[in-house]
Amino acid sequence: AAGPGGPLARLNFQPVAPNRRDAVVLPNGFDHNVIIRWGDPVVAGAPAFSPYDLTLDVVKKTFGYNNDYVSVVPLDDQRALMTVNHEYDDPELMYPAGRYTQEEIAWFGIYSHGLSVVTIKRGQVAGSWFREKNLAAAPKNRRINADTKFHVTGPAAGHALLQTTKDPSGTRIKGTLNNCAGGTTPWGTVLSGEENFNQYFNTEGTVPAGPTLASGTPLATAYSRYGIAKSGSDPRKWYTVDDRFDLEAEPNEPHRFGWIVEVDPTNPNESPKKHSMLGRFKHEGACVTIAPNGKAVAYSGDDERGDYMYKFVSADLFDGRGTNAARKHNKTLLTKGTLYVAKLTGNDSGAITAPYDGTGEWIPLTSDTQSFVPGMTVEEVLVFTRHAADLVAPTKMDRPEDIEVNPVNKKVYVALTNNSNRGTSYPADEANPVTLSGTRTSPAAPLVNQSGNRNGYVLEMTPDADDHAKDTFTWDLLLVCGDPESPETYFAGYDKSKVSRISCPDNVTFDSLGNLWIATDGAPTPMGQNDGLFRVPVAGPERGHVKAFLSVPKGAECCGPLIYDDDQSLFFAPQHPGEISGATFDAPASTWPHTNDYPRPSVCVAYRQR
Ligand code: FEO
Ligand code: CA
Ligand code: CA
Ligand code: CA
Repeated sequence: AAGPGGPLARLNFQPVAPNRRDAVVLPNGFDHNVIIRWGDPVVAGAPAFSPYDLTLDVVKKTFGYNNDYVSVVPLDDQRALMTVNHEYDDPELMYPAGRYTQEEIAWFGIYSHGLSVVTIKRGQVAGSWFREKNLAAAPKNRRINADTKFHVTGPAAGHALLQTTKDPSGTRIKGTLNNCAGGTTPWGTVLSGEENFNQYFNTEGTVPAGPTLASGTPLATAYSRYGIAKSGSDPRKWYTVDDRFDLEAEPNEPHRFGWIVEVDPTNPNESPKKHSMLGRFKHEGACVTIAPNGKAVAYSGDDERGDYMYKFVSADLFDGRGTNAARKHNKTLLTKGTLYVAKLTGNDSGAITAPYDGTGEWIPLTSDTQSFVPGMTVEEVLVFTRHAADLVAPTKMDRPEDIEVNPVNKKVYVALTNNSNRGTSYPADEANPVTLSGTRTSPAAPLVNQSGNRNGYVLEMTPDADDHAKDTFTWDLLLVCGDPESPETYFAGYDKSKVSRISCPDNVTFDSLGNLWIATDGAPTPMGQNDGLFRVPVAGPERGHVKAFLSVPKGAECCGPLIYDDDQSLFFAPQHPGEISGATFDAPASTWPHTNDYPRPSVCVAYRQR
């Protein structure tokens, strides 16, 4: 083994140039292989997959669509368990035109969501991994889908707002939707964020009035604050095949999504959990760290223009003994504690200039026993967290995506992907300073200014006394993303003539030296280049030196990223290859990974050539 500071953390590499290729492009000296594709078998007995001849049985047992977060936990020396989110379906890219009825497509779509747990094993080349194709030897494999029953934990479990016709208990929920980013806990479970769940709930009738809170206040915006509105353009129409997606029939069903989910990949028979204590919003994901006092701290972003960053601090302490009893205890840590929302204050008086920095505080919203928001109960704060947060005036951010804690310097890194409305409906502040962005329509096109923050930021937060349980911190923008030739961009003060163009940061991870790896989603629009993955040191003289390590195929975003095995393996998950306006299954914009004549979202691993 290479030990800490292995090849991916240490090696110099020639940055990948901005491009529009339909391929995974890596620096010289690195290779990659595909581990699993949409439709590959996950559980024993999975029938053969073909998009020309699909059945619900195939969809339920095979790898779902649009792989997003990737977690890997070791199983033994040679094998590991890889857990992957399936965020959403792309019906126009998935099926030949006219092959299936709208009802069939709705059911295929419902079951294309969820997660997969897949046994993987080492390949011949150090750093390479492949899926275990002998499914009889992969008993932990699991396809979590709309048949999987989740248990609700925490104060909102069983509350009237979570009760439906089919689940009057308000504690057992079928399936999980729009699982985007996630985190692997210090106790080896996988967290996953239910993000844009609003799009699945619709109606042919009228959107119901919101509930009346215990204080007597009607919550008229219960649905619209979460983006749920009657839409004539709902392409999925799930409400036509299952009442639970019909808002008029089941007004509480949307309240059963928008949570942080916890899955134990080592126990395929255990019900996954939805943790009400972490609040309900468009959770990008969640990342857990252990504070010096032993409390588990989970950070989570709400990915919407002008929404907030949240933190949960557990009531109980992490048990680090590594025994079965300790693990069982740790799996209860996310059920009791305190939920906070972030307020950032800049330190510039007058003109706002780089470096952008200041102080911050975590404003408490509720504990498991006491609400700190006037007029809302504990349960109401957890189910309508956006409304609760609105009442305490946190900082409206530019779409908080992944939030992760650097294992080396213990600072918190947040991807803030973009906000085209910054400077108009959202006034600039020091944490959100960009109102004019340099953009390009292709890698060689000239820079053109567009209003708003089009290319995003990476925010760095330092808890006071390096204690994640404390409610104060300092912060700075590590990166103002975009083209280094455009004046608004900032790369921690590093020489801008030496950095790679980067736009729309989404997922982040770290290698063993604490270098930050940033995956992007959406770069084709403001920067005319494929999305990709970038490495940037956050300490020392190279701090801010952003270098493009790979680009993903045309139309894809780069999900995953995970550095594993002493920096020898880089897991990454090209999601929605070929998702370009007007492209279809029959007229695809991408055929990656080039094993068929249509695109297939797939999880890959990159490693050093031997
Ligand atoms: Fe699903 Fe916020 O990215
Ligand atoms: Ca400042
Ligand atoms: Ca994402
Ligand atoms: Ca995104």
